Amino acid sequence: MRRGSIVRITIYGVLAGVVASVVAVLIPWLPTSASEEFDRIEFVFWFTTVICIGVFAVVAAAIVYSVLKFRVQPEDESDGPPIHGHTGIEIVWTAIPAILVTAISVVSAVVLAKNDDAGPNPNRIAVTAQQFAWRFEYPGDPKVVSGELVLPLGKATKLTLHSLDVIHSFWVPELGQKSDAVPGIETTLVITPNRTGEFSLVCTELCGLGHPTMRAPVRVVPQAAYERFLQSAGEAAGDQTDGETIFTSAGCGSCHTFRPAGTTAEVGPSLNDLEPGEEPLEDFIRESIADPNAEITSGYQPDVMPATFERTLTQEQLDALVQYLVEGQQQ
Ligand code: CUA
Repeated sequence: MRRGSIVRITIYGVLAGVVASVVAVLIPWLPTSASEEFDRIEFVFWFTTVICIGVFAVVAAAIVYSVLKFRVQPEDESDGPPIHGHTGIEIVWTAIPAILVTAISVVSAVVLAKNDDAGPNPNRIAVTAQQFAWRFEYPGDPKVVSGELVLPLGKATKLTLHSLDVIHSFWVPELGQKSDAVPGIETTLVITPNRTGEFSLVCTELCGLGHPTMRAPVRVVPQAAYERFLQSAGEAAGDQTDGETIFTSAGCGSCHTFRPAGTTAEVGPSLNDLEPGEEPLEDFIRESIADPNAEITSGYQPDVMPATFERTLTQEQLDALVQYLVEGQQQ
């Protein structure tokens, strides 16, 4: 190869690398990280991307050079020379990718192991997914249950994920970690937030009609504020008869519009101005919660609302919820 062709190939390679780097860097592909785990995931992402840009630049340079230099001349109908391989080049193009892929595997394995390691004494929160809401149980006595995920800053929190019905998936983009919640088994995630803020938990597994509405608010707060939250939520949880708290923690508002609770979702029928027909209003509401398929509002489909609430709510909670809905009719 002459010196001139090496210079030209290098120029094409640098140009291709610059174009790919601009696309990689100028477009904000990733949300701004808010956890140690996501910082590591970002490192793997960029480690892999830089390797890809390098390989792309070499391949693009070879193609552009060949297209310009070796294109067929007008009137040239002859065949190209027969080539039977080149052991040297074959060794190079096998060895280099093998080294790169091994490097990516090692880096990924180290990051996966670190991101799964919660340390000796993590904060623990149990996450329950069901169509179409998230529920969070914090340690404490009485147990604190909330529809909001609150995480302490700078401390590893180990989440255990459960599902009551179908497969859902837990993902807070800024916190990086992601895992399915699968019925019958327990999956775990470790999150160590490194900046405060308000984020959104989204379900990323198509789980039914209300899938796009299956979201929950997430807050990262300093340790002191986290303890205050647990304390005040604990006091509220001590009061098992607060209908509004149950409405929120059971996730009713993620599917139903209800004026007193300020919810506006439209997956299921509105709970304002209910028309029970023959039955007393209270019985109608109780039946609709325990056995959602008993009576289907016209325009809605059966089997959308989970039939699990009779199991997951205590008798007192169910009474309080029914009372809350009955009282809300007059408002
Ligand atoms: Cu739960 Cu999608």
